[in-house]
Formats: sequence, structure tokens, C-alpha cells
Amino acid sequence: MHHFKFYNPVKILFGAGQIANISAHIPQGAKVMLTYGGGSIKKNGIYQQVVKALAPFEFIEFSGIEANPKFETLMKAVEIVRKENVDFLLAVGGGSVIDGTKFIAAATYFEGEDAYTICTERAKISKAVPLASVLTLPATGSEMNCGGVISRLSSQEKFAFSSPLLYPRFSVLDPAVTLTLPKSQRGNGVVDAFVHVTEQYLTYPVQGDIQDRFSEAILHVLLDNGKQYVENPEDMEAASNIMWACSMALNGLIAAGVPEDWATHMIGHEITALAGLDHGQTLAIVWPGLQRVMGESKQAKQRQYAQRLWNTDDPEKAIAATENFFRELGVGTRFSDYPSVTDVQGLIDAITARFKERGVLLGEKSDLDYAKVQEILQSRK
Ligand code: NZQ
Ligand code: ZN
Repeated sequence: MHHFKFYNPVKILFGAGQIANISAHIPQGAKVMLTYGGGSIKKNGIYQQVVKALAPFEFIEFSGIEANPKFETLMKAVEIVRKENVDFLLAVGGGSVIDGTKFIAAATYFEGEDAYTICTERAKISKAVPLASVLTLPATGSEMNCGGVISRLSSQEKFAFSSPLLYPRFSVLDPAVTLTLPKSQRGNGVVDAFVHVTEQYLTYPVQGDIQDRFSEAILHVLLDNGKQYVENPEDMEAASNIMWACSMALNGLIAAGVPEDWATHMIGHEITALAGLDHGQTLAIVWPGLQRVMGESKQAKQRQYAQRLWNTDDPEKAIAATENFFRELGVGTRFSDYPSVTDVQGLIDAITARFKERGVLLGEKSDLDYAKVQEILQSRK
């Protein structure tokens, strides 16, 4: 096992009705900005619950943070935070709203010329506005980690950033919020969490027994509850298990002391940046191709995955079964499942060219170059 430092300060308020308790966890006298997306929280009553709970505080609102949050939108919020002297941000939404709010928190005190360098050049974040979240979509784990992913419209880019200053002070996980989620977002969320685990698990063995067994437990829980959660919104036990599994999948615990891959995500982000597909959809497309193309490099862990998750010694059978699971969740695993992508070859060429130009080597062994990116994507038409 590698050396590691593990730190996760996020207070979790889990269960039905927990939104009502948030005021106890916000600093007294804080001026709060409530951030949210396109308005789903107004239709399902979450907004009303949050507003009621914020009664002891002065607060303003910033809405319209879009899916795959845009730098251009977030900078408008930054101006308001500065002008209004906001000193606490409360994100109410899915990964996009929480990520966007983390960016607002960091960009408010950013002193350089271009705040997007927080993402493109990992510019140092030395101060951030404190934030917290009320999660409305189990998927990304953003509610329990210190990272985010921000898109810039002007350059069609999508890049990640992180800082320990961006851990939410607390996150509310009320499984009842999932009742109004569209089926597609449920499926996307399960795929996202599943791939988060494999990015930290399907690499090479370092005898991290706790990390491996925890990872396998999360994968089992997603497999056991995924379909039920997607098909039966009323099943709160399934929703609870999925919600906690999603947070545990990307809160640093299973990454501690083990190698990490993240190539499926890096390639997926390019598909979203250039073709607009949902994050979970891009992962479902890339994952089977990446596992096959990188099969030799990932041999030992793929065999362990096949044995412990799918009761077979054959990694190919496990990859096929996983793809089938994604499809059963209603998430397409090939470009041909997404008619909105009209020029698939053009997209593959553009993504390959980006990786070639950047010259980056992806994966836990830095052995995934642009030619392999191309091979992976070609296999997913
Ligand atoms: O805009 P609103 O009205 O909130 O509607 C959203 C949005 O249209 C809707 N929704 C959310 N909760 C709902 C609901 N609709 C009905 N009922 C509810 N309870 O769902 C749509 C999608 O929301 P979004 O936040 O975009 O989805 P998700 O949580 O999957 O987040 C995706 C973003 O997170 C990033 C992705 O790249 C993407 O930009 N990621 C963040 C990570 C992190 N911070 O650690 C890691 C991930 O790998 C991922 O990259
Ligand atoms: Zn993800």
C-alpha cells in the first residue's frame, strides 16, 4: 500500500427531514447566498424547505447554474458575492450546482487575470468562501469531496479543479429528494458512482485490502440496488443505499494509498465538452472500450473484479456484464444510442486531436496515449 494522508471534514446530515436542521450548522450572523439550477427545486418543494430553514439568516439567491456548469454563468455569481459581501454559500442541487458553487467560492478571492486558470492551470486557491450543500441528485460525490468540474463555453473546454478549502462544511443527504428525479438522471447517477469506484480500483494491485474490499462493497451495493432505484422511485431503502454509496464512492476513502486511473473521466469530459452528452452517459460509452484496450495493463485487478463481483475468472465476461448493467439502468453504452451526436467520426477525430496536442499520458501507469484514446472511441461507435 502507498503512503497516504486521509482528510475528510464534511459533516453529513443523512435522512428524511434533515433540511430543517441546517441553520444549526451555518455560522450565526452569516449572509448566505443560496445557489441552485434550473428550478427543479421549486417544483418538488426542496426550495420551500430550504427557505424555511434559512429563516434565521439574511440570504440572497443565485439561480440558473446549468448542468455541466459554465464559467461564464458562475462569474456573474462571483460579482454578486463580492458586491453583496456574502459570507456563506449554500448549494441546493446536483453535482453541477455544488461544483459551480465551489468554483464561485474559490473565484471570489482569486486575484489573477483569468479565474478559469483555477481549472486549466490549477492556479492556487488560497482563500475560499465557506460553503455547504443540500444534495438533490445522488451521483458525483461532490457533496463529500473538495473538487469540481467547470466548462467554459467560449472555448468548449471542461476541466477539473480542487482544493481542501472547498470541502462543504456540511451536506444534507435526504433520500426523499430523489422522488422527482427523471429516470435518465437516476441511471446516470448509478453509472457515475460505479465508474468512480472502478477509477480507483481497476488499476494494479498494491495489497490495499481495506480499499479493495470497501470498493467491492460499494460496487455490490450499486449492483444490488441500482435497477430497483431506477425503476421504483418510491423505494426509499434503495434510494438511501444508492445515495450513501454515491457519496462513499468519491470522498477520498477508497483512493487513499492506492493508484488511480481517471482516464474514463478525462475522455468522457471531452465528449461532454464537444457533444453535450450527460456526464454519466459519456462514462457508459467509454468504460467498456477502455477496459478492453487497457486489459493487459489492468490484468490482475480485472481478474479480481471478475471473480469478486461477477463470479467468473474471465475479465471479458465481467466487462460485458457491466456494460449490460449500464444498459439495464437505461444508459446507452454506444455512440449509436445517442442520435444527438450526428457526426461521431468527427467527434472522435476532434477528441483524439485534443489529446495529441496536449501530449498527456492518461491512466494509473501513464500508458494511455492519444492513439489509445482513438482506439477506445472507435470501438464504441
Ligand atoms: O438544474 P436543476 O433544476 O437542478 O435540474 C437538474 C439538472 O437538469 C436535475 N435535477 C437535480 N436534482 C433533481 C433534478 N430534477 C428533478 N428532481 C431532482 N431532485 O438533474 C439535471 C442534472 O443535474 P446535474 O447536477 O448536472 O447532474 P449530476 O449530479 O450528475 O452532476 C453532473 C456534473 O458533475 C460533474 C460532472 O462532470 C457534471 O458537470 N462531476 C463532478 C464531480 C465532483 N465534483 O467530484 C465528479 C464527477 O465525476 C463529475 O465529473
Ligand atoms: Zn464522474
